Amino acid sequence: MGRNPIAFLQELRGHGDVVAFYVGPRRIHVVNSPELIRRVLVTDAHHFQRGEVFAKARMLLGDGLATADEPVHMRQRRVMQPAFHHDRIASYRDVMRAEVEKFVSTLEHGRQVEFDQALQQLTFTVTAKALFSTAPDAVDEVRRSLGPVLNGITVRAVLPFYEHIPTQANRRFEDSLRRITAAVDGVIAAYRKTGTDHGDLLSMLVVAMDDDDVRTQVMNILMAGTETTATTLSWAFYELARNPDVPMEPDRVLNETLRLHTPIWLLTRRVAEPIRLGDTELDAGAEVLVSLPTLHRDPELFPDPMRFDPSRSFDQAFLPFGAGRHKCIGDRFAWAEMTEVLTSVTARWRMEIAPGREIREVARAFLRPNALPMIPRSV
Ligand code: HEM
Repeated sequence: MGRNPIAFLQELRGHGDVVAFYVGPRRIHVVNSPELIRRVLVTDAHHFQRGEVFAKARMLLGDGLATADEPVHMRQRRVMQPAFHHDRIASYRDVMRAEVEKFVSTLEHGRQVEFDQALQQLTFTVTAKALFSTAPDAVDEVRRSLGPVLNGITVRAVLPFYEHIPTQANRRFEDSLRRITAAVDGVIAAYRKTGTDHGDLLSMLVVAMDDDDVRTQVMNILMAGTETTATTLSWAFYELARNPDVPMEPDRVLNETLRLHTPIWLLTRRVAEPIRLGDTELDAGAEVLVSLPTLHRDPELFPDPMRFDPSRSFDQAFLPFGAGRHKCIGDRFAWAEMTEVLTSVTARWRMEIAPGREIREVARAFLRPNALPMIPRSV
């Protein structure tokens, strides 16, 4: 699990619908069958809470939509849902178009770019500007500080004693956390002062929550919405470069990319009320894992699964955005943004993979390429 988690989880699929393994003394149950996955996420979701990783993130970031359990979660979801409605997404398209246009014009024929990093910057800016529309200075500050904060949280989740050691990285984490807090608090104060409804997420949040909760939601959205989208786009450009004959139909390309390279590779849950899944009795406190990419690479469900083939059809077992009460709130937002990036970039550039570096899949917070050096060629 430590060395190559995806291969390990893929191998476990062959051992049954629910398979247990141990991490030290902790027993973890991997749910493999599409029917049981649906029960965990949708029909029997009330038997479960979020798992361990979320508990750590919550300690550091507070109770936000991507970390909270019931009943707080449902209350927050109701407040935030309207900002992600169909008609609202249409209004974010102007920001998306403007930012993507700027991005496309920075590319130069023949000049190599670290495309994964460039996409990360782009998706960050789009999310921040669309949802917190009138705060360009804060956007820059948060962009600078978010990386150290996210890395710090991941390290703390794995090594609980780390935060008590006075290292340079720890000081940087604390400094970045302070800066982000100050920047976001500044925006919240400005929104409260003018009382104007800017028609964005932040306007909705400030009338519904206190400052601490609003800041938490801002951080949650930036955490959940930036790297997921950037990673999917990185893989899409990678696959298009390797399969130049594939027709550029954005919906198909994106679906097949999300199947083969599902960025959220682990959903974790903890049993709150005992439940029987298949032949397995799970007591309260049991840890449950669902691995989306290995589901999407099951040859029984998706024949010749490692082949990138946008013409394949998708069925019930395709869940890149999850399902049920925690289903991604930003799926339409992500889709609109990714479509805009794909169509605008490919209209002007053919992105080639730069020679000389091996590109591998790595399982970090998300399932992403280790690097993506690319060279734009005018079309
Ligand atoms: C391709 C891009 C994306 C993918 C693949 C993705 C995937 C997912 C998945 C699988 C979940 C469910 C987690 C679970 O069940 O534990 C989730 C939840 C979430 N996503 Fe996304 N996501 C993407 C983009 C976004 C964007 C753009 C935003 C916001 C702007 C966002 C915000 C959230 C939030 C807030 C949650 C928690 C929802 C809840 O628990 O009620 N995501 N996402």
